[in-house]
Amino acid sequence: MADTVRLGIAGLGTVGMGLVRLLEQNRGDVTKRAGSAIEIAGVCARDRDLDRGANLDAYTWFDDPIKLAESDEIDIFVELIGGEEGMARDAVERALRAGKHVVTANKAMLAHHGLSLAAIAEKSGVALNFEAAVAGGIPIVKVMRESLLGNRVSRVYGIMNGTCNYILTQMEEKGSYFGEVLDEAQAAGFAEADPAYDIGGQDTAHKLALLTSLAFGTEASFDSVYIEGIEQITPTDIEAADNLGYRIKLLGVAVQTESGIEQRVHPTMVPKKSPLAEINGVSNCVAVDGDFIGTVMLVGSGAGANPTASSVVGDIIDIARGTILPPFIHASKDLLPYKQAAMRSHEGGYYIRLSVYDRSGAFAAIAQRMADQEISLESIVQRRPGAELPGISARGQAGAPAPVVMITHQTSEASIRKALEAIEADGHVDEKPQMIRIENL
Ligand SMILES: NC(=O)c1ccc[n+]([C@@H]2O[C@H](COP(=O)([O-])OP(=O)(O)OC[C@H]3O[C@@H](n4cnc5c(N)ncnc54)[C@H](OP(=O)(O)O)[C@@H]3O)[C@@H](O)[C@H]2O)c1
Repeated sequence: MADTVRLGIAGLGTVGMGLVRLLEQNRGDVTKRAGSAIEIAGVCARDRDLDRGANLDAYTWFDDPIKLAESDEIDIFVELIGGEEGMARDAVERALRAGKHVVTANKAMLAHHGLSLAAIAEKSGVALNFEAAVAGGIPIVKVMRESLLGNRVSRVYGIMNGTCNYILTQMEEKGSYFGEVLDEAQAAGFAEADPAYDIGGQDTAHKLALLTSLAFGTEASFDSVYIEGIEQITPTDIEAADNLGYRIKLLGVAVQTESGIEQRVHPTMVPKKSPLAEINGVSNCVAVDGDFIGTVMLVGSGAGANPTASSVVGDIIDIARGTILPPFIHASKDLLPYKQAAMRSHEGGYYIRLSVYDRSGAFAAIAQRMADQEISLESIVQRRPGAELPGISARGQAGAPAPVVMITHQTSEASIRKALEAIEADGHVDEKPQMIRIENL
């Protein structure tokens, strides 16, 4: 590339300002490593007058991201606005069509429109790099796009949302309820004012859809991801998991099965001896199973201004050095259609928690419903009514519900769902059964 590579940075929020600071602070090293001076030629955000904690007067200001995207003054358009649709997508598309390389951290946009954007990038002969879009500072995209190319990948999985992992870790450490910890996390800046996108699992699902495409050479298919968030996890579940030798984590898992690819995001019980169980607080972790490499696991910061800016700069330097790769490893026309494995055919062990009325015959009826679906149980823990467990409302009255926790052997999702529907319909439980999948990862 030329002596100077000129950036247009659209979005000067958390990540955008992290990028500006990194480029200013590490200018010498970045230039040496890139083999070109990396210069900020233009910046853009909504509010020009906002105090962003740094002086941006040296950079040409653009009010309109599209004008910046198409400007003759830039070589790389860095999209750090965010959002699946709207300005981010329009500007990226216009930049690619104008022959500008694009670096973006926007998982939502790519999970939905990655294929069409990749096709435009290929047509224009430019890069569309997105390391920061998957697990922030963890360089998993580069590892999958370059280092692991000799492998057939069978599974990719991980803890990819720091907010969820922070909440679950705090619930475990303090024995607190989900809502209390969420309030604290918001006050401490570890959760957004509107946390639904994180705690509901969508953020993890966006990242997983991108990893699935890289892992299996398929088109990204966000709509096929099965998603459950962490809102229903109670201190009782966390304590029961602990007693049984597990920790609860929100995992994203994509796995190749005989019937297709499973993509799922849900709270998961992982054995305490699993490395995943050791990932605490806001840390993230992504693991890939390949046929020759075995398992590769990367751990680090999945979000935040500095780690995310680090990934953005890695992508910029690649372009400056002349490395232009197909965004999703294969040319977009060669990506396979996504073939979805039905969630009901998922096989695994399950944790079930029931709140069972203390009546004669109740327990036998529940055992029968499990047997009807040929579900065998590895363990059952029944507490007396009013047992001192958090999250159980009734206390010690005759006939009051008592918590029953069961761990199943390997069974299918369809069987477990049928059994739980029947148990609920029988009326021996006073609330919807809790069900958490177990993964021996
Ligand atoms: N934050 C993280 O830790 C993290 C980690 C990984 C990936 N990401 C991704 O990085 C992207 C940016 O995230 P962020 O946290 O930095 O977001 P943010 O703090 O909300 O910043 C967004 C920026 O975009 C600007 N913007 C919004 N709409 C615009 C428009 N129509 N025209 C021009 N500018 C516009 C905003 O301008 P104003 O400042 O003037 O309002 C703001 O500067 C997202 O795709 C996100 O998913 C973030």
